[in-house]
Amino acid sequence: MTKDWVQWHQDYDNPNSWLAKRLEIVQHNLCRALDDAPYGPDGTRRLISICSGEGRDVLPVLAKHDSGRSVRALLVELDPTLSQRARATAADLGLQGVEVATADAGKIDVYLGAGPAHVIIACGVFGNISSEDIQRTIATLPALLAPGGIVIWNRGLLENGDDPSLEVRTYFDEHGFAELSFTSPAGSRNRVGMHQLSIHPAEIPPAAPGMRMFAFC
Ligand SMILES: C[S@@+](CC[C@H](N)C(=O)[O-])C[C@H]1O[C@@H](n2cnc3c(N)ncnc32)[C@H](O)[C@@H]1O
Repeated sequence: MTKDWVQWHQDYDNPNSWLAKRLEIVQHNLCRALDDAPYGPDGTRRLISICSGEGRDVLPVLAKHDSGRSVRALLVELDPTLSQRARATAADLGLQGVEVATADAGKIDVYLGAGPAHVIIACGVFGNISSEDIQRTIATLPALLAPGGIVIWNRGLLENGDDPSLEVRTYFDEHGFAELSFTSPAGSRNRVGMHQLSIHPAEIPPAAPGMRMFAFC
């Protein structure tokens, strides 16, 4: 990896940082998704976090939401230091339904075999991959989701003022999702979206084992 992602996470500790402010939005959206997402037949939900880092967006929310008992979560993070921190936090919070995989989240195989997800978090991903990979990833997400499953994602404003989140919203629109919310606070570069799968499972091509959705640039 070209960037020091362990250091990147330090900005979370500054409550005035853009990252801390984004975290508030993502956690708020996840609370709402856990209220609104469908349940599996066994009364639980499956959650996937793609490139999960330390799991700061997911783990505290799961701990508050019925102590995490109704959620089975898979966090996928390539950096072993960060994935170990996520594992330690999950253990500290008593979250027994959380698995943290130290693995390449761009490869579809890591998600196969565990059943469809009711919530997918893709935060800190779309700003680090090509437009083609964003489109491929969004086109693939329906195959990983249960009907009515919800995706929470972000894509920040560029320094020159361009807003690539518009492109991301278009891709979701084109691939069978309805927008539940889009948050763009005034004066902030943060852009956080929440989309719900709205097409019938019969219309969704199955995931092809071995395929790669994305690689970080
Ligand atoms: C911008 S950070 C986002 C972390 C977390 N989602 C968050 O928002 O706090 C990007 C993360 O992706 C991880 N990463 C980069 N490439 C990856 C890959 N191919 N598979 C899994 N994780 C990857 C990095 O180690 C880093 O923790």
